[in-house]
Amino acid sequence: MPTLGFLKKKRTKDSTGSRDLDSPSSPSKETSFQNPPSASSKTGAPSGTKSSGGPHHSAHDSVTTSQFTQASTASSKPSEPMKAQQAYATPQSSPEPYQQTQHNAPSIQNLIHPTNSNQTSVPASQAMQYGQPIPAAQPQVRVTKGKYTLADFTIQRTLGTGSFGRVHLVQSKHNQRFYAVKVLKKAQVVKMKQVEHTNDERRMLQQVKHPFLITLWGTFQDAKNLYMVMDFVEGGELFSLLRKSQRFPNPVAKFYAAEVTLALDYLHSMNIIYRDLKPENLLLDRHGHLKITDFGFAKEVPDITWTLCGTPDYLAPEVVASKGYNKSVDWWSLGILIFEMLCGYTPFWDAGSPMNIYRNIVEGRVKYPPYIHPDAQDLLQKLITPDLTKRLGNLHGGSKDVMNHPWFAEVTWERLQKKDIDAPYVPPVRAGVGDASQFDKYPEETEAYGQTGEDP
Ligand SMILES: Nc1ncnc2c1ncn2[C@@H]1O[C@H](COP(=O)(O)OP(=O)(O)OP(=O)(O)O)[C@@H](O)[C@H]1O
Ligand SMILES: [Mg+2]
Repeated sequence: MPTLGFLKKKRTKDSTGSRDLDSPSSPSKETSFQNPPSASSKTGAPSGTKSSGGPHHSAHDSVTTSQFTQASTASSKPSEPMKAQQAYATPQSSPEPYQQTQHNAPSIQNLIHPTNSNQTSVPASQAMQYGQPIPAAQPQVRVTKGKYTLADFTIQRTLGTGSFGRVHLVQSKHNQRFYAVKVLKKAQVVKMKQVEHTNDERRMLQQVKHPFLITLWGTFQDAKNLYMVMDFVEGGELFSLLRKSQRFPNPVAKFYAAEVTLALDYLHSMNIIYRDLKPENLLLDRHGHLKITDFGFAKEVPDITWTLCGTPDYLAPEVVASKGYNKSVDWWSLGILIFEMLCGYTPFWDAGSPMNIYRNIVEGRVKYPPYIHPDAQDLLQKLITPDLTKRLGNLHGGSKDVMNHPWFAEVTWERLQKKDIDAPYVPPVRAGVGDASQFDKYPEETEAYGQTGEDP
């Protein structure tokens, strides 16, 4: 029987430990997570969420070109979990209803022949056409420390696990809304030499605000664990959708790749490299737009860094070869992501050890299947190139070179940025009620959170 290991979830690797050999110009490290609150609370029992029975491979769950929806885009107000004091000051008996906005948002197929209807509110003179720069959002640091404690939330089922953390669905006791809380065991963080990366994760997430990046509302800790309160992104992982679909049609891959490109463009404009692009870290919101989660390896790097970290299949050759690297690595990973979306497997995958994957990466031979669109193949060849002086995204034009590539020709970037384009697939979720049906089931944590004791 052929081995299907390439269908499994990919885990991150960090071989060198916590120190990034940063240049002296790197910002100095900030203090770590908020000190433990005295409040201790037992974890809530797992909710009675229906079993999803793991991934279904039914055709109706998967994405095909015929399934591009015309559903209207609804925008929801960001909703902060509210710290205890706020909640008491302004009691909210029931969650605010989400505001529904009707748009005649085009599907990506419509973009090939964009309509000139009154769908966009931006005057033509100001309209950012394809290829023109997208204004970077104003940097803003959210205060995320010292706002919450475990007692503010009811912990429900696990949504996902990774190499370093477990992410739970939680409900705020104050506004009844649902959030996702990433729990990192301190002992594990220390053992895996991830102290600095964990602090970076919080600091990077505090700084970013972008439609395709996860929002971090707050962090807290107790003696044993670190907690990060994020928006709950209801539609599940792009990974699950991709495995159910086997591979995405060209326009579907293009839609997700374009949203990732905008997010990378934004992060890089803030000198942040993401370093862990993969379908496991891309979540779908209730409308089918992407949210990038897991900033465990994101780092502010104005010039160059050396840490070997990321996920084997997605590592750029300059990382594998322990050379100094920069934003270039995210553009390589974008190439791997696009390849995986179009083919259903990564180009350097090997059933053996990660060493074989690394060897393949360094050798750099990519076999492009015949069904890949020529424009896509051209872009992939320009992203998955070891030559840093040729890699698209890493040249003088920066991310604009990627956005201007013919494969993205029909993308109207400014509308995409506003989520004014319908996603190719709308996850079947009941919005706002903590519906975790799109997530795989995991064995639950047995150790109660909120324990007191010695802090590792
Ligand atoms: N905000 C969120 N909403 C819903 N699910 C989430 C959210 N954040 C993370 N998850 C789920 O939890 C999983 C693990 O989270 P995350 O990737 O941050 O952990 P990790 O330990 O850093 O993983 P990795 O092995 O990639 O390093 C994700 O793949 C996703 O399924
Ligand atoms: Mg992850």
